[in-house]
Amino acid sequence: MSYTIKTAEQYKQAYQHSIEDPEGFWAEVAGHFFWQKTWDKVLEWDFRKPELKWFIGAKLNITENCLDRHLATKGDQTAILFEPNDPAAPNRSYTYRQLYESVCKTANALKANGIQKGDRVCFYMPMVPELAIGVLACARIGAIHSVVFAGFSANSLADRIKDATCKMVICSDYNDRGAKHIIVKDVVDEALAMGCDSVKTVLVHRNTGGKINWREGRDKWWHEEVDHQSHACPAEPMDAEDMLFILYTSGSTGKPKGVVHTCGGYMVYTCYTFQNVFQYEDDDIYWCTADIGWVTGHSYIVYGPLLAGATTVMFEGVPTYPDASRFWQVCEKLRVTQFYTAPTAIRALMAHGDQYVEGFDLASIKVLGSVGEPINEEAWRWYYDKVGKGRAPIVDTWWQTETGGILISPLPGITPSRPCYATYPLPGIQPCLLDQEGREIEGNDVEGLLCIKFPWPSILRTTYGDHERCRQTYFAPFDNYYFTGDGARRDADGMYRIIGRVDDVINVSGHRLGTAEIENAINTHPQVVESAVVGYPHDIKGQGIYAYVITSAPVADDNTFRHELLDAVSKVIGPIAKPDKIQIVSGLPKTRSGKIMRRILRKVASGDTSSLGDVSTLLNPEVVDEIIDGALNE
Ligand code: WTA
Repeated sequence: MSYTIKTAEQYKQAYQHSIEDPEGFWAEVAGHFFWQKTWDKVLEWDFRKPELKWFIGAKLNITENCLDRHLATKGDQTAILFEPNDPAAPNRSYTYRQLYESVCKTANALKANGIQKGDRVCFYMPMVPELAIGVLACARIGAIHSVVFAGFSANSLADRIKDATCKMVICSDYNDRGAKHIIVKDVVDEALAMGCDSVKTVLVHRNTGGKINWREGRDKWWHEEVDHQSHACPAEPMDAEDMLFILYTSGSTGKPKGVVHTCGGYMVYTCYTFQNVFQYEDDDIYWCTADIGWVTGHSYIVYGPLLAGATTVMFEGVPTYPDASRFWQVCEKLRVTQFYTAPTAIRALMAHGDQYVEGFDLASIKVLGSVGEPINEEAWRWYYDKVGKGRAPIVDTWWQTETGGILISPLPGITPSRPCYATYPLPGIQPCLLDQEGREIEGNDVEGLLCIKFPWPSILRTTYGDHERCRQTYFAPFDNYYFTGDGARRDADGMYRIIGRVDDVINVSGHRLGTAEIENAINTHPQVVESAVVGYPHDIKGQGIYAYVITSAPVADDNTFRHELLDAVSKVIGPIAKPDKIQIVSGLPKTRSGKIMRRILRKVASGDTSSLGDVSTLLNPEVVDEIIDGALNE
């Protein structure tokens, strides 16, 4: 595409242009898409409200840009290349034409089942092509998708269905993931029994086959609803600012919030960044190993690549099944050219030993990507040396569910990359560092709170059903800035290094979890009086979950109690939120106003008790020694 940056000089020019004339810059990029009607105005914004509008007055349908637009030139090119969990099973693939027809049929089936523009549809599915097809079918008719990661519990699923008052749930019968065989439909039934009255239909995709429970009238088979439909479905004209999807994400407080993205800006930004960060070229095979249940899957498995007319790989399995060479086997077999994964996967595979990566022909790989959490230098080097064989540049891409697309990243082979650094902002992005008082920290070789000064097209518009919460979380902490929740360092060359969250969000194996959510789950155990959860450095997961728990009476059987706590967390949130360590304590260090001193708990959890600072002003200083003595730093 003509907006693809190819040289460092072009990057500088594009960046300069995007700062001096943001509206002109983005209008030029947006000119490469198919709009049913173009915009009257590029941007209106006010961070204080917040009000964020891009391409005002424009009409479009994102699926016309993902599908219809490519039919003439790329109809027979593979759009989705599916690698199933079982390595012996054949690859399934969809050309752009087949994908177009499948999306249209599915869209017609949704309509036939009463789904209209603006209705919310929840997805709870493994990584099979039907998930991408379903999501696009929603977009085709203007329904809003809310994909819930299939590792979440029935409780979490029910919360999300209720928050968005979804009319339909689309799920699978079963999910084969690694050696596990999970009954997905049962989880959905359990969730729907928790008062999800808005759901009228459950559309069930037969993935593995096998007996499942069935509710006549409510449950319908995907193939029975979809297969006979016409493979033409007009694309609903959408306002650029109409909602495209909701995606729930964890924050410091309360329940996860539904981050809202809209059609126009999200389309322009995800495609632009996909194209530039991965330098996709014709005939490349791009593979992002994320799950579509997270934002990375939305933006860089489905929308970004399809908008750019790429071949995108969808992988159903896990990196260690049947063994720790699976990623590399697949890269060799499919001739993958861009490979995008999370540091936690790299660390886990590195720990299995080099023999799993050596011996595979990975010469096709041109670009390696990293996302979701800070990548430590050792993992970065291993990725670069063992996977990229020193030939493929690494793009350490920093972004968030709320940002919709990548904000800070190297451009491979074009701008410099450096271990542990996301490096420089992409065109259109104006990052800055603030101190605690909200003053901008100028100059280089400094550290502070990472904020963004100016909107970009795919910035979140609101949190579903609660605009005030959006303002409070992202725009109220610092006047007239978007606050990311991350701390960062800007080095002598002006490059950004992300340090990690400065709020009560922890990042466990690249999954974002709120400590308050985990505490609430632990507190459902009848014997728990109070708990405090913090993150601590973990070799593989990045951060591990450390829970301090106060019980109402001494526990009779320590082991049983711990298992009950883990079960409680699995039930309320999902297995991904299970604490790695649980320490039973008699009290938690608190200030005189009753606030838990998490700083102390974090230090103890990390095994560093050298600099706890002055604890004498605490309400209960004596508890600190007890906590240190009982700390689980084996
Ligand atoms: C963290 C994932 C360091 C960060 C796309 C952010 C990163 C949170 C990086 C968002 C990176 C993401 N280096 N940290 N390259 N990318 N993060 O919403 O703390 O699941 O705020 O979006 O992940 O997580 P989310």
